[in-house]
Amino acid sequence: MRFVIIGPGALGCLFAATLGSDPRHEVWLLDHDRQRADLLTWQGILLTDAENRERRSPIRATADAGTIPGCDCILLCVKSHQVPTALDAADPLFRAAPLTITLQNGITHLETIGARLPAQVWAAGVTAQGATLLGPGRVRHGGSGPTRIGFMKQPVSYAAATQLQRIAAALTLAGITTEVAADIRQHVWRKLLINVGINALTAIHDCANGGLLSSPAALLRMRRAVSEGAAVAAGLGITLAEDPVALAMDVCAATASNISSMLQDVRNRRATEIDAINGAVVKAGHRLRLAVPENEALTSEIKALESNFSDDYP
Ligand code: PAF
Repeated sequence: MRFVIIGPGALGCLFAATLGSDPRHEVWLLDHDRQRADLLTWQGILLTDAENRERRSPIRATADAGTIPGCDCILLCVKSHQVPTALDAADPLFRAAPLTITLQNGITHLETIGARLPAQVWAAGVTAQGATLLGPGRVRHGGSGPTRIGFMKQPVSYAAATQLQRIAAALTLAGITTEVAADIRQHVWRKLLINVGINALTAIHDCANGGLLSSPAALLRMRRAVSEGAAVAAGLGITLAEDPVALAMDVCAATASNISSMLQDVRNRRATEIDAINGAVVKAGHRLRLAVPENEALTSEIKALESNFSDDYP
């Protein structure tokens, strides 16, 4: 199969390296930065595993979407706030692709994509894969977890449903265990509430995920922020299978040494995904007339940190 991955960040590089190591696939990577695209084509993607072994996967990287031939699937791996720019940069590619899968933290990108690609087949994805970008095209794989993909808009054609199953099978065979989920909205909210409870607080406390568990003040804020998010989810008719506060704490323990994506952004002085995470809970809460003071406070505190940064995309 031919895959196009958009965005050379940690997740994009992890997917590119994994699919690129399977000789049955051709992997293209679209990067807005021409110099880095040239470097990635020359160097490939270097993936360091949990045992510190490094492996190189070949890819074809380009800054010009027009040079990419037709593909079987686009994996959109840019950050949430970069989705509109990526859609503009590769418009003809998105229109011609039989399937786009979008993998961001948060929820705001889903509205954007639904509005921008009304006639295209696209699916949302959430992943528990841990990845940290070490440098251009160099990624550390911190740990594996399931990836779930599914259509937000139902029903879909038989051809689209079959294509999604084929992509899930291809990802799984390449090494990223992937399931097709009938209820992807529920998985998106489950992941959103994990990020609501962890990401901003790790950035504010400047600590790894596990550090939140030893701070009573951080745990209190986590409980409040996630409970507000769960009330918003309930207001939208989304049923959560587990206690979301307990889940956020379990994820903190399971990923104790991880530096969250938001703390990585803050340390690298890059724009964060705050609007797509706690900010999205605030927006949805206001629409439903629900009180969301903890999410408002977390959003303002991260925006205060961000106010001095410039956004260097990946
Ligand atoms: O954004 C992140 O960093 C991750 O989604 C998570 C689960 C919080 C682990 O660090």
